[in-house]
Amino acid sequence: MAKTNNDSKNSYQNLNLQARAVLSLNSINGLVIPARGLYPHRVLWDSCFIGIGLSHYDIEASKRQILSFLDAQWSDGMVPHIIFNSAPRYFWDRFNWRSWLSPLSVKGLPTSGITQPPMFAEAVYRIGSKLTKTERQIWYKSVFDKLVRYHSWLYENRDLKGDGLITLIHPWETGLDNTPPWLASLNRRHTPLFINLLVWSGLIKIGDHLRIDGKYVDFNQRSTSIEALRLYGAQRIIRRKRYNNSKILKKPMFAIEDLAYNSIFIRANSLLREIALEIDQTLPKSLLISMSKTETNLDELWDINAKTYYPRNEKYGYFLKEDSVAALLPLYSGAISKERAEHLLVKLNDKQKYNTVFPVPSVPVSSKWFKPMRYWQGPSWININWLLIDGLKRYGFVKEAENLAIQTIELVKKSGFYEYFNPITGQPAGVKNFSWTAALIIDLIEEYIG
Ligand code: GLC
Repeated sequence: MAKTNNDSKNSYQNLNLQARAVLSLNSINGLVIPARGLYPHRVLWDSCFIGIGLSHYDIEASKRQILSFLDAQWSDGMVPHIIFNSAPRYFWDRFNWRSWLSPLSVKGLPTSGITQPPMFAEAVYRIGSKLTKTERQIWYKSVFDKLVRYHSWLYENRDLKGDGLITLIHPWETGLDNTPPWLASLNRRHTPLFINLLVWSGLIKIGDHLRIDGKYVDFNQRSTSIEALRLYGAQRIIRRKRYNNSKILKKPMFAIEDLAYNSIFIRANSLLREIALEIDQTLPKSLLISMSKTETNLDELWDINAKTYYPRNEKYGYFLKEDSVAALLPLYSGAISKERAEHLLVKLNDKQKYNTVFPVPSVPVSSKWFKPMRYWQGPSWININWLLIDGLKRYGFVKEAENLAIQTIELVKKSGFYEYFNPITGQPAGVKNFSWTAALIIDLIEEYIG
């Protein structure tokens, strides 16, 4: 635990209270959305991080956040990444996805039709750690089948080679929506005609003014209009196939074995095994075999020449060689060797890469992609820091974990509960009063300040 005097201890207590106020502000009928205005719908991994923060002071709300998200699980086990706000003014958001086109979706509960990093097991486990043994077993039993079905769905639908590595079909599934390897892959594809027409006619400029995100955030901190249109174009292709995975994957626009996703999935699998053990349940044998393959084969995403991890094109096997912070997330998986973990720590400490004044940048500072204020192309994000802190600690890099935790808390104390931060100046960016920033700061304060 960090040593603090009474005054600064009070200031952290204040920060903790302010963080709770952000979560209350974003609560609608007892469920917390990512941020008012820009993100009015519930989102998968946001909800898990929010659940972790809430578990420190409102255990019922934290359980509700997770359980109610799992209500959106489709009949095949898939958990969609967005549950839409039912207010009439969000009709077009719901209509854009039209989840009801799939016979697998939950009737009367409009959602998206793709998924996001599987953070449920982590949230469930952490909530469990706040309960008595009997309460914990009841809690675990209430979610266990759903988690098993979700993890099994990933293997049945997205482990295309049977090597345990999960393939994603849209950049939004990574959670790092605008991250360079995926964006470069998007840019390599030919631009749809309607976008070219918009650019040639100059109409794209008018589109800039119509963008909803521009009402809340400076354009330079978001995707460009062309990128945004292309991302929506990719979503439309998936929707046209009614979110049917086998149809989508016959001729996919994207089929990428993602690094962040697989690292998070490995950790989720380990925690699911612990949850099963505690309630005396056995996991299906085929699931256990797949889980161990993911752990072993994560190292297939290691490029021996570049000495770094990269995501990989599923079909042709080439690496997507644009650097991003996802290359450090195998630390969170727990599945890599201690030597490899040390190697990642060296990168984290390298001033040419990730060691900035306000770490951890989402792209190394030396990368040609690095833009300190743009969405996933440079800024530091609190959830990524949190995953790295947890990974560092489990690898025994306790001092490093504590330093990063304190730097993360100080950054938010200085700049506010924003969505992301300039890693060089600490300047806030994205939306303000962002829920996962608040939730994870509560968690870090509780663990590292006390
Ligand atoms: C942004 C992030 C995504 C997150 C969403 C809602 O789009 O890239 O990971 O889930 O916001 O907060």
